[in-house]
Amino acid sequence: MTTQRELPLSDAGFPVDSAESMLSYPVLVGARAIEAAGELCRPFEHVALLADETVLGLHGERLGDLCNLPTFILTPGEANKDWKHLGQILEFMSSAGLSRDSLLLTFGGGMTGDMGGLAASLFKRGMSVGHIPSTLLSQVDASVGGKTAVNLPAGKNLAGTFHPPRFVLADLDLLRTQDLNEWRSGLGEVVKTALLARAPLFGELEKAALSIANPESADYETLSTLVQACIRTKAQWVQTDPTEQGSRKALNLGHTFGHAIEHATGYGTVPHGIAVAMGLVLAMNASKATGTLLEHDLQERILQLLQNLGLPRSWKECPKSEQTPLSTRSLVQGLAQDKKGQVAKPRFVLPQAIGKVLWDQELETTTLNAVIDGWLA
Ligand code: GLY
Repeated sequence: MTTQRELPLSDAGFPVDSAESMLSYPVLVGARAIEAAGELCRPFEHVALLADETVLGLHGERLGDLCNLPTFILTPGEANKDWKHLGQILEFMSSAGLSRDSLLLTFGGGMTGDMGGLAASLFKRGMSVGHIPSTLLSQVDASVGGKTAVNLPAGKNLAGTFHPPRFVLADLDLLRTQDLNEWRSGLGEVVKTALLARAPLFGELEKAALSIANPESADYETLSTLVQACIRTKAQWVQTDPTEQGSRKALNLGHTFGHAIEHATGYGTVPHGIAVAMGLVLAMNASKATGTLLEHDLQERILQLLQNLGLPRSWKECPKSEQTPLSTRSLVQGLAQDKKGQVAKPRFVLPQAIGKVLWDQELETTTLNAVIDGWLA
């Protein structure tokens, strides 16, 4: 049964004392976080809305008066995260009379936030953006940290900028309508973040896993604590390296393999966070194979956690595997497309222990093939 108890609105404690003043923005997490939008939009003379069509249909009334803002409605679907739609958004921003002092408010998942962030960073050489992320994945990951992007035919998120938002409102009530696949996709990023946390987040997630595995029956109070902890963890990694010159690459844990799975199976076939969850297993196996892993029970703990969260641990456990062929060769080809690596030599983030990873790691071809063969078997 859905827990409808009202949750307290809480500040996730995004660091405000960073030398990078661009990182100083509020992130509110809670069941009524969206209600802060009016107040946060007030300082801007002009505000326009970029909204996901489905989210607007399901939750639009929760925006209150902001519903009457000039609005661009984005049809969801990875295929629409492209130049053509970005151009249409920019034309809309121009016709809505926005200026450098205006704000674009995004209302939707990662695609809406990424495209809105990119449009705001380009329009008149940069204006403000505020995010109301509507999916678990975008609340714990995509909306925080300032990455923006559209896809290019050559690959996902290949054109983008760093453009931090003015605020993020992670309203947990928006999550109650998520379908199970999208929910699990968000949980994949939660697991990744917990592995990167220096605090005891991983253990808390292990304890809470069964109670948050399903959006309809989830314990939203526990979820609220976990979402806040994930945002704090991400903020810490972003704060030390906002433009991903070094340590922020840790946040790509599971992503080199994950993107290869998405590429090899066709984008949209396996939701991003589910591909990342399988990517975590592959990264863990690679870490073990190369002698990088320091905490030897970590592999078993991750596999158990993924199982408790309903996430696949191998390709055979992925619901798409029956209809979708996947081979070592196609995954290795997918790895060559990863934008974070060289064309010929992909780079990996390898876990050593909880809160401790190595980035920019290369793998010998024989090791890589053996790791993928083992995972596909
Ligand atoms: N999603 C990884 C990052 O924001 O750096």
